[in-house]
Order: sequence, then C-alpha cells, then structure tokens
Amino acid sequence: MSTPQLSHLTDPLVHHGSPQQAQWWRSAVIYQVYPRSFADGNADGMGDLAGITARLDHLVDLGVNALWMSPFYTSPQADGGYDVADYRDIDPLFGTLDDFDVLCARAHELGLKVIVDVVPNHTSDQHIWFQEALRAGPGSPARGRFLFRNGNGPNGEQPPNNWESIFGGPAWTRVDQRAAAATDGITDTQWYLHMFDTTQPDLDWNNPEVHTEFEDIFRFWLDRGVDGFRVDVAHGLVKAPGLPDWDGSVSMVEGSSSAASDSGPMFDQDGVHDIYRAWHKVLAEYPGDRALVAEAWVEPLSRLARYVRPDEMHQAFNFAYLVTPWGAAELRDVVTESLTASDAVGAPTTWVLSNHDVVRHASRLGLTELGKGPNGIRESDPQPDAVLGLRRARAATLQMLGLPGSAYLYQGEELGLPEHTSLDDSLRQDPSWWRSGYSEAGRDGCRVPMPWEADQPGYGFGASDKTWLPQPASYGPLAVDQQQDVPGSTYEMYRSALAARQAHELGTGTLAWVSQYANSTDVLAFVNRDVLVLTNYGSEPVSVPEGLNVLLTSGPLAAGEVPTDTTVWAVNALSRT
Ligand code: GLC
Repeated sequence: MSTPQLSHLTDPLVHHGSPQQAQWWRSAVIYQVYPRSFADGNADGMGDLAGITARLDHLVDLGVNALWMSPFYTSPQADGGYDVADYRDIDPLFGTLDDFDVLCARAHELGLKVIVDVVPNHTSDQHIWFQEALRAGPGSPARGRFLFRNGNGPNGEQPPNNWESIFGGPAWTRVDQRAAAATDGITDTQWYLHMFDTTQPDLDWNNPEVHTEFEDIFRFWLDRGVDGFRVDVAHGLVKAPGLPDWDGSVSMVEGSSSAASDSGPMFDQDGVHDIYRAWHKVLAEYPGDRALVAEAWVEPLSRLARYVRPDEMHQAFNFAYLVTPWGAAELRDVVTESLTASDAVGAPTTWVLSNHDVVRHASRLGLTELGKGPNGIRESDPQPDAVLGLRRARAATLQMLGLPGSAYLYQGEELGLPEHTSLDDSLRQDPSWWRSGYSEAGRDGCRVPMPWEADQPGYGFGASDKTWLPQPASYGPLAVDQQQDVPGSTYEMYRSALAARQAHELGTGTLAWVSQYANSTDVLAFVNRDVLVLTNYGSEPVSVPEGLNVLLTSGPLAAGEVPTDTTVWAVNALSRT
C-alpha cells in the first residue's frame, strides 16, 4: 500500500511518507485531556486523575494512540495549573502520585502512550524557589534563578523595560507591589519579569541551576514511565541579552507579532535550541521512543522547523494550520509549507484544530472573522453560527485526519462540542479576563466539563451534579452516550476516520495534490497513499473523480456530489479496503 494508487490523478508527491515502523510519534493521533474538565472521580466538581483513568476506554474506543494531559502538578491554579509550585508532585485537586502511576500503567495496558505537560518558562509564585528569592533579597543567588531587575527612573519606579504580559498589562511586578507584600512584609523595590500572570515569574535560563533542575524533573517523570513531554511556551525560555525595549505587541498565546519574522526579544531566541539539544540527550538515555513536543507560537513554519531538527525536539504544534482562514488556497499553501518545512529537517508535521487556549473549532469556524478567532466569546459578542460551525468543523477534521503526520485532538471535539459562549462573567477563571481589563473573555469557554451521559447530573462528568464551570444546555444532546452507535454522529465520524486512517496507514503516508484542483480556490484535494481526500469550500457541489468510491464523508452528499463545506475520503472502486 506504500505507493499511491491514484497517481494518474495527481501532481508529483509533495511529501514521500515514512516507513510504517517509524517511531510512534511520527504518525500518532494524540488526544489532549484537560484534567480539570475530563472526568471527576471524587464528586467534587473538579476533574481528576482517577476520573481520567476510569474513562481511558473512551480513548481506545475512539481509536487514538496517545494522551497528553495538561498540568496536574501542585499549583495554586492561578492559570489553570500552568503555574506550577512543585513539578514533582500532584495537586490534591487531581489526586496523588499513586493515582498518576495507576493512570500511566492503565494507559500503557491499553496501548496508549502518555505525554505530560512541562512548564519551564515560569514557575508559580508559590514555588519554593520564588519564595526563597523574595526572602533572600536583591543580588542573592536565589534571585538569580528568576529575572529580577532594578527599575528605571530616579527611584526605580518605572519597570525595567516596556514589555507587556501576554495576558495583558505590564510584564513586570515590583516586589513591594505584590498583593502578598501586605502580609509577608517583603517590600524591596526590585521588579520581576512575568510574561504571563503576575503569579507566574519567568525563570532565568542563563542560570545553570535552572538547567540542572529541569533535567532532573524530566528524569523524575521518565522514571515513572511517561512517553513524552509537551513543552509549554517553548519559544520563550531565552530572552535577548539586556532585555531591550520592544515596540511590537504580543497577543494572547500567539507568541509572534503581526510582523511574522520579528517575534520580539522575548521569543524565539537562538539560545533556546541549546536547551532542547540537552533535553534530547536526556530523553535518549531512556529506552523506547520518548518524545518532546514544542508549544511554540513561531512564524514562519521554516522557523518552527528549527525546533524539530534531528537533535532537538521531536514534534511542534502546527498553529499556522490552526489559524488558517477557511479557504482552499490558504489551506493548500499551509499544508505544502508545513510538509516542506518539516521534511527539510526530517521531522513529522503535526496538525491541530483545537486546544485549551483557543475557541473550539466547532464555534471558531462559525464566526464571520476567520482565523485564530477571538480570545473567548461572551454573550454580548457576535455569536458563532452553530450549524455552519459544526459543518465546517467536521469537514476540517476529516481533512486533518487524512493528512500525513501526527494529529492532535482536544477532548470534546469528537462530540462536536461548541464553545460555551454565555458563561456568566462572575464565573470566569482565566487570568486573561481581568488582566485584559475585562476586554477579552478568555479561555474558560473551551474548558467546560465533558458531557458523558445526557440524563445524568452534570451530564455524567462525575458522581455529583457539581461541575467547576457550568455546562451549557447544548451539551446534553451532544453527550457521548447520545452519539455512540448513531450513524452520522460526530463521534462516529471521528471513530470511522481514525479507523480508516489506521487501516490505510495515512499517518505515515504521502501527499500529492490532485492536478485538476491544484490551483482551485474552491476545492482542496490530495491523495495520501490510496485515499483521495477532497474538501469543497466553494458554493457549487463537486463530483468525486470518476472510478472512485466514497469511503467517508463529513456530511451528507447531494445527489452523489460533495456539497459546500464538506470533506470526503474516496478510494479506487476496485480497492479491497
Ligand atoms: C501556554 C498554555 C497556556 C498557558 C500559558 C502560560 O500557552 O497553553 O494555557 O496559559 O502557556 O503557561
């Protein structure tokens, strides 16, 4: 099956594929679990590790290869756990290290790889190092693990530079102006850098102690059996020497400015690559194919590819694909560019449409403003068109799962869950809501607890009716039990696509554009091994090329033709699979 059987329809290969026995991460479909919201094992309204373990069968039924869990470490939860106070322990909200071991063992038993999140750009202000740094005072070695600086101006009352936090507001806080200063009495006037919330001080990666500490943290989790790490803010660890002022602007979780090649002095500095070379060596000491995946909001894709050179990380999230507006030409360009850039360094391309930081794609694709979309949607904002959004989301997913490389799914997208767009403002927990001066809703709307059973309290999220964020009524009919075995449901579309992707070895597959549509602005069509994938973005229905049988569709066909906003997979009518 390794040679494309439909080559008479296509231009030359853009991507040649990799051997099926290549490392798992080259082709894996990885399911992102947001621990707060997947499943609640102890009825307190907050998801936890025991809840995840109990629901791992869902991932197997779906047909994914791995799970990635967002942070579950000890944390005051000022940024949903991306503010880590102890990298070697589990927050009591989520359970214990024993619960983690049980989860990991069960996942492995089920044939699932386990990826955990690591947050090396910053700690929590409750981390022992930061607490020590505050107490030790200016000039101390303890302060040297973070980016403390004296202020500008005659009395140091101005921040050391003009950088802004990605969550809004200044990226610096003065020690005596912390909320806690009133009680802990540490009131000197140095400033510390935090590219995110004031409770998330940035580490100084020029300090060798920081390197040693993180290599040890990696070993701690590798010894417990994890198969990989998702590296948070991988483009941010090293800052330009002297921390120079910068007039560009950083936007929410999108590291780069609108001027694509200039990410600013806080992002995508060459020094980060030495760090990843060292981590690569740590992982290589362990048996099995352990992997590092970069969360790096870096443009263009050729720069992102530098993170996955052979001796650095193994994968990087392809956010360029996620933010591409809905259109055949735009998507074709980004797919070609992604494959070319990653092929140039021998890495797999990844694909992703949703995660815990962006508006769910079933809603995002129903907005008039297309692309990455806003940072959350409030009731008073223009609302997505739910029907259009879901139709496009299904078409987008079916296209994504037909592409060669590794793909990431975000919990709930297999149900077609929309963003919660009418959350009461008083319930919002994302710090970007208040740090943006209440101008951005933030990310809570994509982090709402999963619906499992429509007729259970909290839609079966846990054994009580408690959910840390309320679920919208629209989640009931979308619950897992409402979609299982229902032909045409979003859940069954995902299952069929994942099974066919596996059967046709598409993850390690090839890509050639279908000649007939190579320049079309309405139709995107490619062949991966023996499967033709076609998405219609235009207003007129399109026929499936002659001699092919439709294997899967993202929505009903119209008199045998592919209607607007629909993707089909088709195979040679004579093919046996
Ligand atoms: C990453 C995470 C996001 C978090 C931020 C700060 O972008 O995905 O959720 O808020 O880093 O750690």
